[in-house]
Amino acid sequence: MDDRIIGNNRIAWFEIVVMVCFCAVFLCACGNYQPSGADRMQVGVAYYDQSDTFLSQMIECLKGQFEALETEELEVTVMIREAAGSQRVQDDQVKELIDAGCNVLCVNLVDRADPSEIIDLAREYNVPIIFFNREPVAEDMLQWERLYYVGADAEQSGIMQGELAAGAIQAGRQIDRNKDGKIQYVVLEGEPGHQDAIIRTESAVNTLKQKGVSLEKLSCGIANWNRAQAQNRMMQMISQHQNRIELVLANNDDMALGAIDAYKKLNVTESAIPAFFGIDGTDVGLKAVADGLMSATVYNDKEGQSAEIAKLAAALITGTGMEKIKFENQRYIYLPYKKVTGSNVKEYHKEEET
Ligand code: BGC
Ligand code: CA
Repeated sequence: MDDRIIGNNRIAWFEIVVMVCFCAVFLCACGNYQPSGADRMQVGVAYYDQSDTFLSQMIECLKGQFEALETEELEVTVMIREAAGSQRVQDDQVKELIDAGCNVLCVNLVDRADPSEIIDLAREYNVPIIFFNREPVAEDMLQWERLYYVGADAEQSGIMQGELAAGAIQAGRQIDRNKDGKIQYVVLEGEPGHQDAIIRTESAVNTLKQKGVSLEKLSCGIANWNRAQAQNRMMQMISQHQNRIELVLANNDDMALGAIDAYKKLNVTESAIPAFFGIDGTDVGLKAVADGLMSATVYNDKEGQSAEIAKLAAALITGTGMEKIKFENQRYIYLPYKKVTGSNVKEYHKEEET
């Protein structure tokens, strides 16, 4: 009888040990999803395509900003994933980042009109999202209260590009080459559906008109922010209009550079080359301004945007500092653009000084 009791007790102890081990393993696994408070910030960054010049430079800035946040009290890790232009891939990457224990997400959507899967996942695990550069539509931002956006105002960049072009035309910089009193122009446009594409074009053209510049639109080509595509479009436009093009307005620097490439490739004589205007102030864009190949650009403040993202992420994790962040419309942060011409390019393109 005693033996049986001892035997039963042994079995009971064995069961308890097994249960404890099981619980420990279970808790560790669950621990992945639990933000552990103010001392651990695990950031998941997902962006749409590493071949995008502006984005790849911005991701570098972002990494630097997060690394700078690390202190003895705050441990910071950053995991970065790029989706090679596929929203399906990005949805999976976000799941993977959450599974890996990320407690804040920074998402540059592939398809800005299709964030629902990502929002559902983040909400399920209570991980806040800071969207950046590719702005979700307003209704989607209302799907959950822990969604934020950091970017810049597209209209402002177009207005600045228009002002820069008007300034150059009115300063008598020989842009109206055929002296007909009108500026024959073409536009190179970014990805259709991107908040920056159509708005930049419209506001640049409207600003030129408001400034009293008469315009004649020759052509418009979509080149999806991409230098090689812009070169192709520009070659077609040149063959269609020969030397008539006097001004190229590009929605970003890479496309302005693609247009410049086209003229180089066709070996067009200097006197038939139009004036090119970009937006972004990427390293290559700034260099082209410094070298006098691009007339001007508009600086898309990736450093400022990255700093705001990092500040906001830290505030979301630590629960302090939120009051210091200036939101528009409660959950949006927009950084101002700046004009860059030959006369101030050195302030931006630091390498040029050395
Ligand atoms: C930039 C482009 C970039 C695009 C990507 C825009 O704000 O000006 O250069 O390709 O964002 O989303
Ligand atoms: Ca003209």
